Amino acid sequence: MATEELNPSKLGTKEHWDQVYELELNNFEEIGEEGEIWFGENSVEKMVDWALDHLPPSENPTILEVGSGNGTLLFGLSEAGYEQTRLAGVDYSEGAVRLAHGIAEQREASSVSFRTCNFLGETPAPLPCHDGSSDTQIWDLLLDKGTYDAIALGPKDEQGRSPARDYPKRVVRLLKPGGIFLITSCNFTEAELKASFCTSETGLVYHSNVRHPTITFGGQTGSSIVTVAFQKPALV
Ligand SMILES: C[S@@+](CC[C@H](N)C(=O)[O-])C[C@H]1O[C@@H](n2cnc3c(N)ncnc32)[C@H](O)[C@@H]1O
Repeated sequence: MATEELNPSKLGTKEHWDQVYELELNNFEEIGEEGEIWFGENSVEKMVDWALDHLPPSENPTILEVGSGNGTLLFGLSEAGYEQTRLAGVDYSEGAVRLAHGIAEQREASSVSFRTCNFLGETPAPLPCHDGSSDTQIWDLLLDKGTYDAIALGPKDEQGRSPARDYPKRVVRLLKPGGIFLITSCNFTEAELKASFCTSETGLVYHSNVRHPTITFGGQTGSSIVTVAFQKPALV
């Protein structure tokens, strides 16, 4: 489905996510509950395994998660051996960032950076260890687990255009040449993601995918989520 064809829903609004994280933050403070793992633990494992196979900790990659929520994916990477000071998450909900900070402290992962940032309008801050030469083209790996899905459900403009239309360009702007964008989605098929991300405007090319269990329904077989990696061509 093209982003323009999706009907807007509350999942595409900041108010919704602010309410979600206010509740989750309360639960965390009261009973230590870390909150929902979007798409389940298996999706975290699969994205971490993909990273271990393609950009292992020995290469010391800089990694940014867009829409990092409670930070589970970044904590998974930290536990898998990635250097905490090379990991960052941004989320436009202040509550998500506070929750992620709280969990980071409890999990002894407080060197993972979490910042408030609206990815559609702002440039995520560089890592504290960054040399300051540029704010863009500094990430080896950009991760998205459910955020592009949420953005695609946001309100459309007067021309009926989805807020997700500028997302692929923003991704490319932040990646180093040769850098990779790894996305897990439940709203789009692999073919739809390829159509949105591999365009002449972005220059991104398909890199690889991750297999998820398939379900068969009404004679059709498919996965409930897809994980696909796209690469920004290296400079020649
Ligand atoms: C479906 S949740 C996924 C959260 C997290 N990635 C996970 O897997 O648990 C989508 C997240 O994207 C965030 N988000 C949505 N639109 C955003 C935007 N424009 N900029 C930054 N974060 C955004 C929401 O606040 C929410 O945390």
